[in-house]
Amino acid sequence: MSHRTTGRRRALAGGALALAAALTLAGCGGSGSGTGSGDTGAAKKPEIAVAGAYIPEPTMDDMAAGFFTVTNKGGAADSLTSATSDIAGSVTLHSTKGGVMKEQKSFEVPAGGELRFASGGNHVMFEKLKRKPKRGEKVALTLHFRAADPVTVEVPVKEATYSPGEDGGSDASHDTHMSHQSH
Ligand code: CU
Repeated sequence: MSHRTTGRRRALAGGALALAAALTLAGCGGSGSGTGSGDTGAAKKPEIAVAGAYIPEPTMDDMAAGFFTVTNKGGAADSLTSATSDIAGSVTLHSTKGGVMKEQKSFEVPAGGELRFASGGNHVMFEKLKRKPKRGEKVALTLHFRAADPVTVEVPVKEATYSPGEDGGSDASHDTHMSHQSH
């Protein structure tokens, strides 16, 4: 929760290191996503819903992070495969593990389970912003799935230090996001 705007220079240096680490890892995007179990029963379908979305007001001009939870009440797994928004030239899917951010091609949404995008962990990045999201606004975000229809949510822009009350694990998220400055 140490959200400093004054440590920008330090953060930039740290960001360069983090980016280098991220780039090093970027080549192995497919790790661990193989769940190729055979589909039984065409009647089983994912039932996707998205809740708790928010965007912390960005401190940078060209990108912003977004968080939300995808739930799947259906009997079949699905995957979040991409995201789009009218305010961003592109929206990318990222995971963060051990403080290292990594772009992902997709995220599994287990049957009867959920997929969480939370501060310090998975997040979407709004890149090539056409305008900077301002606190109090809502931003349309459309999530695309392998099987289910796309879901569009109106995402509220919160204060930069906003964190949902629950177990968000808000530590370490800020330094991680600084690495986006070097994108
Ligand atoms: Cu990221």
